[in-house]
Amino acid sequence: MRPLRPARTIALLSAALCALATASGVAADSSQGSAERGEAVYQDRCVMCHQLYGAGQGPSLKGVVGRPAASLPEFPYTAALKASGLVWSASRLDAFLSGPAELVPGTAMPMTVQDASDRADLIAYLASLRPDGR
Ligand code: HEC
Repeated sequence: MRPLRPARTIALLSAALCALATASGVAADSSQGSAERGEAVYQDRCVMCHQLYGAGQGPSLKGVVGRPAASLPEFPYTAALKASGLVWSASRLDAFLSGPAELVPGTAMPMTVQDASDRADLIAYLASLRPDGR
């Protein structure tokens, strides 16, 4: 059985429309993260290492918001991240994505997200992923 998922198609379409609107200079509200835009950023900059299902080069980020750092038993984290004692609240994620190696010297997570509204959108998207099921 392969049920159609129109909701996802609509979400992707609206992400594309948002990107177009932003590119053409229509003001986007950046005071709060947009999960739709965040999904597009994720597909662009994160998914090559962080597959949502199963192990990749990076740990799964499904359910990461609220999770203690380096807590997936199946992923070989660095000693640095394991010893960090962090819990991934939205503000910790924001700090980590601003400069992973500044927050956790020695981490193997290489990706910096410079733009604060991209970070807010990504975090909104990550928060929308439930740890189990879709
Ligand atoms: C080139 C591969 C790569 C890319 C691209 C990448 N990451 Fe990572 N990420 C990693 C690795 C490897 C780790 C594990 C780091 C460690 O053990 O020190 C990690 C760890 C993390 C963690 C901590 C997870 C946990 O379970 O504690 C978060 C959060 C994270 N990445 C977010 C992101 C986001 C968001 C993006 C996209 C903007 C991204 N990463 C892009 C490789 C990557």
